[in-house]
Amino acid sequence: MSNIVKFIAMGVLMHSAAWGASTAVCKGCHGQNWEKAAMGKAKVVKNMSKAEIITALKGYKTGSYGGPMKGLMKAQVINLSVADIEKMAASIKK
Ligand code: HEC
Repeated sequence: MSNIVKFIAMGVLMHSAAWGASTAVCKGCHGQNWEKAAMGKAKVVKNMSKAEIITALKGYKTGSYGGPMKGLMKAQVINLSVADIEKMAASIKK
């Protein structure tokens, strides 16, 4: 499990370096249109408001938000800046 998380975290790092805040990795779990309940645990992100998405992603980063799989999401956002998170939320809810 921890190797998988590291692998995913590396993927996000490489993506951020090459593309800015890319959501390609996210969609593997959350669906091409953010329509999936990722791993049966997450809320359907397309039904969340932009503010809720920002709160969730910032919260995963700082540890103040999340359910049983929050560690996994922390790995996804740990290397994103607050500006990246806001850009990402804006691109999800366009
Ligand atoms: C390996 C699968 C996976 C990847 C990749 C992933 N997520 Fe998630 N995401 C989850 C899971 C599982 C949860 C629920 C975690 C929990 O227990 O809080 C979640 C939760 C979320 C939530 C909050 C939903 C809720 O239930 O409150 C948002 C928003 C979100 N992810 C956005 C993203 C974004 C943006 C990315 C890319 C940077 C991303 N996710 C990458 C699996 C993934």
